[in-house]
Amino acid sequence: MIVLHWGMAVGILMMLGSGIYMEYFNMDNALKFKIFQWHKSGGVLLLIALAIRILIRLLSALPPLPQHFNNLEKRLAHAGHMALYVAMIAMTLSGWVMVSSSIYGLPTIVFGWFQWPHIPNISANELWNSTAKTVHFYGFIFLATLIVGHVGAVIGHYKKDKINLIKRIWWKQ
Ligand code: HEM
Ligand code: HEM
Repeated sequence: MIVLHWGMAVGILMMLGSGIYMEYFNMDNALKFKIFQWHKSGGVLLLIALAIRILIRLLSALPPLPQHFNNLEKRLAHAGHMALYVAMIAMTLSGWVMVSSSIYGLPTIVFGWFQWPHIPNISANELWNSTAKTVHFYGFIFLATLIVGHVGAVIGHYKKDKINLIKRIWWKQ
């Protein structure tokens, strides 16, 4: 879980960066195409990592939250973590639906390494494609906001109670 948390955190920040760059900045078509392919490849790896992470999460016990957290703080921490999972699922699945339902039908070759299949029966489907685009856009705003809150909570607890929560997601206690 530690390796997955930090590996995926770096991956997700790179996905936010590449997504924003390819959508909102001007560049020539060759570079845009390259970044799109990179974004799709990175997204597929994150989708696989997320599936493994959810499986391990369901099968393992978590360390209990710090004693002095009151009920509200415990609920907020839990709700925030669940929301992060929902946002990660929404982003990776909507990305996969988007490329599967696109009118271009371009294959997704993950870093030139293996071909990731399209979801069957939705190719060139305008409704699926536009819905997935909308989910991807609002999902990105939601995920970015949650990450700011997540990091803010870690900094806040450190400032308020001098508690280093990062130890909870690191090897050395
Ligand atoms: C955690 C995972 C992901 C993050 C954080 C992410 C982030 C973003 C962002 C910020 C954008 C630009 C804003 C927007 O139009 O939505 C974007 C666009 C896009 N992403 Fe992702 N993405 C993720 C996963 C994926 C996956 C798995 C795929 C496909 C396999 C994908 C394919 C695309 C495509 C095709 C666009 C262009 C959308 C358009 O033309 O409107 N993304 N992504
Ligand atoms: C950028 C993307 C990130 C995502 C998507 C993310 C997601 C998550 C999720 C879902 C959990 C809950 C684990 C579980 O209940 O299974 C978690 C825990 C944690 N994360 Fe992150 N994280 C990110 C970045 C960060 C960063 C940059 C920090 C450091 C400031 C951080 C610090 C922590 C800590 C300390 C915990 C343990 C919380 C506890 O149980 O006390 N995370 N993260």
